Amino acid sequence: MILVTGGAGFIGANFVLDWLASQGEAVVNLDKLTYAGNLHNLDSLRSDARHVFVQGDIGDRALLDRLLAEHRPRAIVNFAAESHVDRSIHGPEDFIQTNVVGTFRLLEAARQYWQALPATEKGAFRFLHVSTDEVYGTLAPTDPAFTEDHRVEPNSPYSASKAASDHLVRAWHHTYGLPVLTTNCSNNYGPLHFPEKLIPLMIVNALAGKSLPIYGDGMQIRDWLYVRDHCSAIRRVLEAGRLGETYNIGGWNEKPNIEIVNTVCALLDELRPRADGQSYATQITYVTDRPGHDRRYAIDARKIERELGWKPAETFDTGIRKTVQWYLDNPEWVQQVQTGAYRDWVAKQYAGA
Ligand code: NAD
Ligand code: TYD
Repeated sequence: MILVTGGAGFIGANFVLDWLASQGEAVVNLDKLTYAGNLHNLDSLRSDARHVFVQGDIGDRALLDRLLAEHRPRAIVNFAAESHVDRSIHGPEDFIQTNVVGTFRLLEAARQYWQALPATEKGAFRFLHVSTDEVYGTLAPTDPAFTEDHRVEPNSPYSASKAASDHLVRAWHHTYGLPVLTTNCSNNYGPLHFPEKLIPLMIVNALAGKSLPIYGDGMQIRDWLYVRDHCSAIRRVLEAGRLGETYNIGGWNEKPNIEIVNTVCALLDELRPRADGQSYATQITYVTDRPGHDRRYAIDARKIERELGWKPAETFDTGIRKTVQWYLDNPEWVQQVQTGAYRDWVAKQYAGA
């Protein structure tokens, strides 16, 4: 079996669902269930004995030791993290605790467990660390996309904490020989995405008749990848990635934020037209920019394609249509994640917007 951390969050839950459907191998899922963790994401696995859910913290060494001894996983896939840039600006402490200290504790537990494994199991063991393109910093409009050799230059508390965790993973390989793999992926979108991030926030706000807040001039560029393509890339790296290597994952889909929001509005106009016949785009409002806002991210995904033969299955057009349709089909999921804590966040972040 494998140990997945953060498997009740957006990407982790998609990964666990796809893993069990495609590989069938059992999963121990360790998740703290912060505001971003949602057990309803895993409802379809309730009576599936191959999925063992454990609520807990990757920083809890005693718990990690117990889980590793009890379940003896052949791999660890580390998704657990604080993941929202705007939250990291308001309160960076949790990002340091989970992304840096938590990853450190997980690496130490993995190292002790791995060192005591019999030779064949030891040789097959993998620690896959899931990271982000944001560690590379920002690009000017004509700069080439980030390769794995791009300098690490994080600009937000979130990306700095992820870069720190990437460094720890690298050092645990270099110093102790721990068989690690690191993936740095671009912005994901798709089902189960918490509506504090751009795409789900815009869908949810549009349908609720609320404003669609664009930071600054809306010309910041992100490189978008459908979440299930990210999951297939992680499976492939776990299967065949070279130890100690980093793989950038992306879909060659650079788009300015305003274009993303206009696309979402056009799909909603088609699939769920407003009663007054107006476009959802009339709800767009420009608000104060994010401090230190990175202007452009772009992933050069040639290494993973060349070495591992991975390519995304979705184009942006097919992926965004599926995503908007999923939110239209799952209003109860949206309602359920919009708890009191979510409402407090929205009030704080968009006060006066
Ligand atoms: P998310 O915020 O939706 O989910 C994070 C999950 O981790 C939640 O279920 C949360 O409960 C859990 N968690 C948080 N702290 C924990 C702790 N201390 N111990 C155990 N569990 C804890 O995040 P996501 O968007 O699914 O991102 C998953 C991973 O992928 C993160 O490491 C993130 O940096 C990385 N990533 C995300 C994107 C993206 O676009 N969302 C892109 C590239 C990489
Ligand atoms: P986000 O989904 O938070 O991802 P990240 O900051 O990790 O790339 O934001 C994506 C882009 O959308 C980013 O440039 C910030 C912008 N954005 C808005 O313009 N308005 C919003 O309300 C949000 C949440 C994001």
